[in-house]
Amino acid sequence: MALKLSVIGTGYLGATHAACMASLGFEVIGFDTESSKVDLLSKGKVPFYEPDLEELLAEQIKAKRLTFTNKVEDLSDADVHFICVGTPQVKNGNAADLTYVNSALESIAKHVKPGGLVVGKSTVPVGTATKLRKRLLELNPKADLAWNPEFLREGFAVEDTLRPNRLVIGVVTDSAENILKEVYAINLKENTPWVRADLPTAELVKVAANSFLATKISFINAMAEVCEASGGDVTVLAKAIGYDPRIGSRFLQAGIGFGGGCLPKDIRAFMARAEELGASQAVEFLKEIDAINLRARQRIIELVRKDLSDDLVGKKVAVLGAAFKPDSDDVRDSPALDISAQIQAAGANVTVHDPKAISNAQKRFPGLTFAEDINSTLKDAEIVLHLTEWKIYREIDPAQIKKLVKSAIMIDGRNALDRDLWRAAGWKFRALGRTDSE
Ligand code: UDX
Repeated sequence: MALKLSVIGTGYLGATHAACMASLGFEVIGFDTESSKVDLLSKGKVPFYEPDLEELLAEQIKAKRLTFTNKVEDLSDADVHFICVGTPQVKNGNAADLTYVNSALESIAKHVKPGGLVVGKSTVPVGTATKLRKRLLELNPKADLAWNPEFLREGFAVEDTLRPNRLVIGVVTDSAENILKEVYAINLKENTPWVRADLPTAELVKVAANSFLATKISFINAMAEVCEASGGDVTVLAKAIGYDPRIGSRFLQAGIGFGGGCLPKDIRAFMARAEELGASQAVEFLKEIDAINLRARQRIIELVRKDLSDDLVGKKVAVLGAAFKPDSDDVRDSPALDISAQIQAAGANVTVHDPKAISNAQKRFPGLTFAEDINSTLKDAEIVLHLTEWKIYREIDPAQIKKLVKSAIMIDGRNALDRDLWRAAGWKFRALGRTDSE
């Protein structure tokens, strides 16, 4: 008999995990305390934008493999319970807020069958899984707990969940590993690397991976600063170092830096946890990674100031992109919106366009103006900022839109537009880390 699975928390991670596991043939029940979310998901609707997810979810609901509930007792039939709740940054500090993880464990504990397994997927500070396992065994001695961090990228969530580049399994017992081998049998058949670890190592793998990625981005943004000071071009530099397979070319895109619901909060939570462990020196460099990242936002504002003679008051600024990255409607800690809000606060009239993220952006930044189409965003603009590299922006014909703007100045905050093309069309083109773009 195939295992029955439950997924606790149906946000980004949980909704994707539930739909993907159902598509592999498991019977899956998703649980969330928010009944509005449960209602929406039960109708096959996803409350956020993620390519391919809504189709997959609707298909699995129709096939009766996937249901949603807000009653935790409905989960008692499941053999494996995945905890997929959020661990946001606490309001007054850098640490991760574990309220949702702790309450998920408390509420599921007594519903776990004898021999059943609770599997944490949320990103947590090292040491959390061991504590949770101890608590679970107190409440239900016949249950077990494992940690199985998730590495999915927004925009590729379905693909990354169905075909992960590795599976990391933090376990204490062989039986927990065996249950997870059954869950991930298809991936094992496809030779997905399987890393068995203890609980602390499994938790650390996730924060170490995100710290490494953040470091790579801030490294290239630091090089961009040096290029600006010395007359170099960071895009050429990135290409050249990326050919070394030990370095690799991915995540070397210089620009306004990283945002989103993971990298910024995860590196901060890692620093907070390391401090508690007396190991703060080991991750002291992450402070600098964070600082370089936030500095990129100021550097682009400086470029705008320079082009507008240091006077932003009343200037019409057009911004292309609000999401923290393309193919997502997520605006959590979005560099694009942070920059837009700062420019607006300095007195400019900022209009922001995004193909998917406007409604989320509006909720967080009601003071900004948003436009549904690119042309009205650009109308009479005195400067244009490209801040999220959606494909549609690369398809813009610079000659065509030059007629709409008041002054043809493009600042590419993502180093993703074709500079020669824009220049040939008569635009002043600037970008971070490329001084010859003056
Ligand atoms: C990240 C991790 O990649 C993923 O493994 C983890 O599970 C969750 O956190 P995600 O937040 O979806 O995923 O976004 P990612 O693709 O990593 O991009 C993060 C940010 O870095 C974005 O704001 C992006 O614009 C920025 N970025 C990325 C750069 O500025 N330069 C780059 O070269 C790459």
